[in-house]
Amino acid sequence: MLPETTSYTLQEKSLNTGMKLLTPKPWDTTLSELGEFTECAVGDCYDENSYDAFGSSPHRKETVLGGLPEETLSETPISQERAYRLLHRELQQDTSPKFNLATFASTSMETAATKLIAENLPKNFVDPRAYPATRKLEQRCLRILANLYHRPETDGGHVSGVSTIGSSEAIMLAVLAMKTKWLERQGAGACAKQEQPNLIVSSVNQVCWPKAAKYFGVQLRCVPCSNERFVLDPVRAVDMVDDQTIGICCILGTTYTGEYENVQAVNEILLQRKLRVPIHVDAASGGFVAPFMAPELKWDFQLEQTNLLV
Ligand SMILES: Cc1ncc(COP(=O)(O)O)c(C=O)c1O
Repeated sequence: MLPETTSYTLQEKSLNTGMKLLTPKPWDTTLSELGEFTECAVGDCYDENSYDAFGSSPHRKETVLGGLPEETLSETPISQERAYRLLHRELQQDTSPKFNLATFASTSMETAATKLIAENLPKNFVDPRAYPATRKLEQRCLRILANLYHRPETDGGHVSGVSTIGSSEAIMLAVLAMKTKWLERQGAGACAKQEQPNLIVSSVNQVCWPKAAKYFGVQLRCVPCSNERFVLDPVRAVDMVDDQTIGICCILGTTYTGEYENVQAVNEILLQRKLRVPIHVDAASGGFVAPFMAPELKWDFQLEQTNLLV
């Protein structure tokens, strides 16, 4: 172990100790390169000497699963190959997403999509100056989705939207947008009154809704579901509206049963009561299915009060 005060780079350390220096890999090391590594079974031992790694004592052997640090960084660096094998082995203990029917994550992806994602992983796509092609593609996707969801042509066809890493992030942004719009509607006095804004959603909401509400200081008003009704009751939802309501969320494909909540009914009741409250549709688990499976269903921007979609 080196004294704590010693400052060194990996290269210096390997030169000082006479160990073999690894040629640094370029940042775009491909997965296929890693895929050529020989497989080893859980609990296998292997000899450090046979690796071009830094740092282990010449005769030491370690079990494959025993090599990963738990609390602090390792004192000795390890090779890329070994790090890959250790992590690969550990992550294989998870359920295969293909066979996961329990947590809404039974995901499977085409090989071409996986390849495309791997090829573009190193890009910091939030920087449009460096990656203009990525940004153009995002804008095209937005326009395609806006058309699919019947967005009315306003502002010369301009569409507002942004890609996110998942629906939870999208819902965070949506709650923030609803709150900001509500503050604008309330005018300058809103902050002085210190009234807490609220958001109405059925009790079968996904866990990201209470999270978003907590992050942004919004009260979540849950419309209870029952043994007979697993989705939002539109009348009860609109009954809960008051001056502090920033929006009503309808879920298109609830996480638990996949059932569509009746967005059109909520829209109609709001119009009948002359309430200008925006509807947000959480279409995370159905928005890409509904336009094809139920094209007659009215739930998107065709409805006057639908302002936001996830
Ligand atoms: C209705 C609904 N909303 C939001 C989410 C959150 O989506 P994500 O896991 O992509 O963050 C889910 C995920 O299952 C969902 O079913």
